[in-house]
Amino acid sequence: MTLPPATLTAGTWLVTGGCGFIGAEFIRQVLAQQPGVHIVNIDSLSYAASPERLAAVDQDPRYTFIKGDIADPAQVAQALAACARTPHKRCAALINFAAESHVDRSLFTGLPFVRANTLGVQVLLEAARDHKVDRFLQVSTDEVYGDVPAPQRSVETDPIHTSSPYSASKAGGELLVQAFVRSFGFPAVITRCSNNYGPWHWPEKMIPLFIVNLLSGKQVPVYGDGQQRRDWIHVADHAAGILAALLYGRDGQIYNLDGDVEIDNLTLTRKLIALAGRDESAIKYVPDRPGHDRRYALDSAKARTELGWRPRWTLDTGLKETFDWYVANQAWWQKVTDASYQAYYVKQYEQRAK
Ligand code: DAU
Repeated sequence: MTLPPATLTAGTWLVTGGCGFIGAEFIRQVLAQQPGVHIVNIDSLSYAASPERLAAVDQDPRYTFIKGDIADPAQVAQALAACARTPHKRCAALINFAAESHVDRSLFTGLPFVRANTLGVQVLLEAARDHKVDRFLQVSTDEVYGDVPAPQRSVETDPIHTSSPYSASKAGGELLVQAFVRSFGFPAVITRCSNNYGPWHWPEKMIPLFIVNLLSGKQVPVYGDGQQRRDWIHVADHAAGILAALLYGRDGQIYNLDGDVEIDNLTLTRKLIALAGRDESAIKYVPDRPGHDRRYALDSAKARTELGWRPRWTLDTGLKETFDWYVANQAWWQKVTDASYQAYYVKQYEQRAK
């Protein structure tokens, strides 16, 4: 591992989607660990954004927020202009977290997914190329590999084989990044990560949805037979992996990031039920998700060797910490799951899909 260029470690980084679950964790870590870095966060504040996630850094003079949509070149230009107003006077790195990420929503309509995850990436790439950034990092997903039969684990050279409008739109974004690498020698790195969990997770994904249902005395909806297998990574480990890839990754490379955990949904559900002190009657089997991938599994040897990164959290410790966080932060998740709050965002979402 060579030292990262000084233009990166003493520079301004444009983070997109920084009010999201993973982007906010990344910003918190960077401001705590990289004293020479200024962050400009552009976020459209779509339904799963929550500025409360950044309350800890809101007053930091090295942090600037811009409300904006990555699919709109004029709004991206404003964010880059904000980078030029920081002491470093330019954008050294662009880290793209902004995405529509929920598979079930993409089955309802894929339009916002293509707009954010594919068109938005093209807008960012053109802006980053024109501003000559030193590094572009695209946050992607293990879902681009599609189903993986056991005991196989996906490696970075495996073909893309997507199943949902969500994963197809993320693959589209990645392919555009790869086209820029090939056509322009563009300094981009792609990370592909497994299922995240942790505090501040929007309660529509499996783990936070099941926790808030259990805490509310409701049942948890297990899709199909519950035998689908996922790898789970704590969001802090994921953010640390992205930071390592940004600083130490090689231009044009892809890095898998996994949590070193593989578990089927039913076993995971039972762990959450045990934490909540509930029993099997809390499980409600519901019809399976259309096109549901049975198994994802990543091989992250490349990231471990080249980036010196590895996940730190065990699943049981991470689940307990996450469960306790939801117990202690009922006010937050009750607010964001409230019908009127949701209706506001659903309306915004439907308007954007038109
Ligand atoms: O693998 C990385 C991906 O993980 C990310 O790229 C996606 O943005 C993220 O949404 C997640 O995708 P999944 O579809 O795997 O996550 P989700 O939490 O929706 O579902 C996890 C598993 O749990 C999956 O097998 C479907 C199942 N499930 C999910 C929900 C929401 C249920 O059985 N019941 C549910 O209500």
